[in-house]
Amino acid sequence: MAKPVAIEVYNPNGKYRVVSTKPMPGTRWINLLIDQGCRVEVCHLKKTILSVEDIIDLIGDKCDGVIGQLTEDWGDTLFSALSKAGGKAFSNMAVGYNNVDVEAANKYGIAVGNTPGVLTETTAELAASLSLAAARRIVEADGFMRAGLYEGWLPNLFVGNLLKGQTVGVIGAGRIGSAYARMMVEGFKMNLIYFDLYQSTRLEKFVTAYGQFLKANGEQPVTWKRASSMEEVLREADLISLHPVLDKTTYHLVNKERLAIMKKEAILVNCSRGPVIDEAALVNHLRENPMFRVGLDVFEEEPFMKPGLADMKNAIVVPHIASASKWTREGMATLAALNVVGRIKGYPIWSDPNRVDPFLNENASPPNASPSIVNSKALGLPVSKL
Ligand code: GLV
Repeated sequence: MAKPVAIEVYNPNGKYRVVSTKPMPGTRWINLLIDQGCRVEVCHLKKTILSVEDIIDLIGDKCDGVIGQLTEDWGDTLFSALSKAGGKAFSNMAVGYNNVDVEAANKYGIAVGNTPGVLTETTAELAASLSLAAARRIVEADGFMRAGLYEGWLPNLFVGNLLKGQTVGVIGAGRIGSAYARMMVEGFKMNLIYFDLYQSTRLEKFVTAYGQFLKANGEQPVTWKRASSMEEVLREADLISLHPVLDKTTYHLVNKERLAIMKKEAILVNCSRGPVIDEAALVNHLRENPMFRVGLDVFEEEPFMKPGLADMKNAIVVPHIASASKWTREGMATLAALNVVGRIKGYPIWSDPNRVDPFLNENASPPNASPSIVNSKALGLPVSKL
């Protein structure tokens, strides 16, 4: 059993033992677990990233399920320990699960949950914030004010980029990429170019309809284009936001060669995963192209930045906070808890992980289902008919 000092226990007599490796926002997730007969143990160890050994300690001899974080290495060792402790489910409190070896979970018959849907708009809003902050040099200008350097208005002071009428490029037009694209097109009247293996018909229809609306109102219509290669987006867009999943095919997707084909004054935003960009190559590119700007929420080797990045005035860096709105983080905790308890209780898997609203309604009991289990097919788990 884990060292008691670092553990907070709720409902000590609960039948099922569920461990959360971190305190998570809100209390609904704890109450929902208690309602379903769980004893909930929350780890308060004063260490940001828990090691595999720390988590083995937490799992102990009997553990029915674990809620974990994207900073943890969920591979064979942990799934083996969880399986030995009688565990049935693990859920990341994240939509991305590149920290999880799903094959290993399959080997031990453990369900792996994630938290899609609830963070789409929040993440897209951070990508939009970084886009605007980079375009208008907000962070540089803020530092200038605080340093007492402002002596009065000047024609050349912090001149940035106008987004209206420029082209926004989206690489990976899934849930978050599409939400971001809509924000930039609708809010700033940018034209869209996107690259994705799948056609995003809904997004295309939205831009077409919005373009028609603008035209009908005597304004310049916005346009869209589905690029046939990523390079086409990099070459043509003025502002590019990256939204792919991280896997072998997207590791260092943006490298030295690809940076070189981007416009000299382009803006690059990354709220996906750090290793999608070759960060050392990016630092060189920023150094050699002072008008090129980036907004980064994620880094190749978190929590570190590659040498030189912190010194670059043309980089805005924030600590992986894209999903950090209160509503989203509380919702993520709820979905992760329901993923785990749903499996413990043998409930089916929700049929559409994009439609998680019924689980987030605080005024009603959530459906008896796990909202999103990524290996449900591999484990042959039943799908909810609701
Ligand atoms: C955050 O990065 C997530 O994947 O949810």
